[in-house]
Amino acid sequence: MKPVLAASGSLPSQANAPWTPQTWRNKTALQQPTYPDSALLEEAVDEVRALPPLVTSWEILSLQQQIAEAQEGKRFFLQGGDCAEIFADCTNDVISNRLKVLLQMSLVLVHGLRKPVVRVGRFAGQYAKPRSSDLEVRDGVSLPSYRGDIINSPEFTEAARTPDPRRMIRAHARSAMTLNFVRALIDGGFADLHHPEYWDLAWMKDSPLAGEYQRMVDGVRDAVQFMETLSGHKLRNMETVDFYASHEALLLPYEEAVTREVPRQTGWFNMGTHFPWIGMRTAAADGAHLEYMRGIRNPIAVKVGPSVTTGELRRVIDTLNPENTPGRLTLIHRMGVKEVDTKLAPLLKAVQAEGSRVLWVCDPMHGNTETAANGLKTRRFENIRGEIERAFEVHAACGTHLGGVHLELTGENVTECTGGARALTDHDLERDYRSTVDPRLNDEQALEIAMSIVRSQNPA
Ligand code: PEP
Ligand code: CO
Repeated sequence: MKPVLAASGSLPSQANAPWTPQTWRNKTALQQPTYPDSALLEEAVDEVRALPPLVTSWEILSLQQQIAEAQEGKRFFLQGGDCAEIFADCTNDVISNRLKVLLQMSLVLVHGLRKPVVRVGRFAGQYAKPRSSDLEVRDGVSLPSYRGDIINSPEFTEAARTPDPRRMIRAHARSAMTLNFVRALIDGGFADLHHPEYWDLAWMKDSPLAGEYQRMVDGVRDAVQFMETLSGHKLRNMETVDFYASHEALLLPYEEAVTREVPRQTGWFNMGTHFPWIGMRTAAADGAHLEYMRGIRNPIAVKVGPSVTTGELRRVIDTLNPENTPGRLTLIHRMGVKEVDTKLAPLLKAVQAEGSRVLWVCDPMHGNTETAANGLKTRRFENIRGEIERAFEVHAACGTHLGGVHLELTGENVTECTGGARALTDHDLERDYRSTVDPRLNDEQALEIAMSIVRSQNPA
């Protein structure tokens, strides 16, 4: 194997050690729940293991190809969805509204950046959350923290908070229902560019952004009609799009259970999602999560926070992509608007100097979380937009390329992030704050981010 990143001073990578879907069990696995009944855990894992896959290896490999093209600047990468999906949101409206806003954003990006978009939902399995503490204490009572619906339930009672492995089976079923509905909508023509009105959302009627969006949609519709008139044929490839699913691969017994061999393919695939990624808290090069990820054939991503050193990042890359395979590895930086200028450039330069092929993506959400005066967790729109703009500039200055964004968003008209076209304030947050974890961009704010990306890349 080519020693792509055998930098002096960095520890040897694990890339050559034997791997099976279970070898992560020999390493330190952070952020795992403590299940009280290990026999029940094994039973639940066995049940998931026997269920059919949720995705196919063909889809996984076609996503890898699209990511490889994004690495070369030929596509823009859009990944978005809830911080944490909840079982109760596995409904017609929540799923279709989220798909609508992602389709609207991708249309804005395709039109404004003149590039195809790689569309990845943060859904159909985004059910596990890392937490800063194992326990939550209220009025002297201490219970396990809520870790996402695949593990426990948010109510502050012992029964709700006790990790229940059978929730993995429910999470798998809801992931399947979500994917099934998304696939059916897209196959049925929901994403058809001849009918962008299918994606209209209720807020658009009186939105300050509606005029700009409608002008762009009309322009696209005119262009499609013009091409069809000229060619005398309906443009068939305008009727559908590729859509992929992703989630944080946090709960390792579950990820192990959906890891399968595939006929006529070599190696192992995570068949529970197309694009598993690792969060900042579980991204240690010698930890169980990287051990699991290094052996699967899916394209994968790792979050990169402001405390990561160039040596640590080299080791992560060397462990996860020792062959420097195109499309294999995405690095999602989440520095925060205050630190993006100082923390990002050294990492970009180090990776660039090694010739490592990665897709760089900006997550402008997780470094910009704050607590409002009323105690609610929030993020300011101008900081989210600001981090993306600064990230484009830092990449340009380093001779690297920012290839996409990773956003927490919903198709609902919630009030969780402040600012945006309607200038939401801290007071507005109480009106419709629904997230049990991180604050999301609402439908209108999400579209505004897509518009601002286009504007920042096409200065007037
Ligand atoms: C997340 O994306 O929800 C998350 C936990 O991110 P990070 O690991 O970057 O904090
Ligand atoms: Co989050």
